[in-house]
Amino acid sequence: MVICRTKDYNDLSRKAANIIRAQVILKPDCVLGLATGSSPVGIYQNLVKWHQKGDLDFSKVSSINLDEYRGLRPDNDQSYRYFMDTNLFNHINIDKAHTFVPNGLEEDPKKACSNYDQIIESMGGVDLQLLGLGHNGHIGFNEPSNVFPSGTHCVDLAPSTIEANKRFFASEADVPRQAYTMGIRSILLAKKIIMVVSGEGKAEILKKVVCGPITPEVPASVLQLHRDVVIVADEAALSKF
Ligand code: F6R
Repeated sequence: MVICRTKDYNDLSRKAANIIRAQVILKPDCVLGLATGSSPVGIYQNLVKWHQKGDLDFSKVSSINLDEYRGLRPDNDQSYRYFMDTNLFNHINIDKAHTFVPNGLEEDPKKACSNYDQIIESMGGVDLQLLGLGHNGHIGFNEPSNVFPSGTHCVDLAPSTIEANKRFFASEADVPRQAYTMGIRSILLAKKIIMVVSGEGKAEILKKVVCGPITPEVPASVLQLHRDVVIVADEAALSKF
């Protein structure tokens, strides 16, 4: 595990975006595993800026997102498809037919999850997986539990996740209670993983992820087993080290 310490969120966003930029330059037809939430917003802004300057070409890139709320339409402004379109895809030259997000409208969880696993498999592996870190240690929506779920699955969101994500919704009651998420095995199969962590509120959990035991109670601790993980974190997030 490599830890890249940054001064603040802007510095973190630029450094993490540079890693993605290198990936796209070195392998123009790469598969990027992407995340939503507040942590990657600055990264996407940098990627858009560099694309608009003519420095970055996404025409051959494919992408696969970690998760989606169950029951939200893609054009719902709280869906993760909408997030990806408005924060990144609408502003770069990626072929949207090559961007994948779980189908939140598929009511049958088994079908939604097996369809997504087939898509992941057909893409031939993720070259670079971007992750954020939940306050409870989740990655994707793999919530603390007593097992590491393998493939894509339907998850009941933890009360702490609903609490953390209510800031994006009109009220807590509007936060969907379930989501489809890529499993831990699929995440670990990525060739390279970059996790971005910002702010003092994540300092305690980040210490556990890196220095604590590997346990499904802290899902991100499983990253200790991966051979190529870079954690890009700001000083506030690293304040407990
Ligand atoms: C989002 C995702 C989540 C977030 C995590 C951190 O696609 O998979 O695991 O990365 O909840 O969210 P923020 O960045 O909003 O603190």
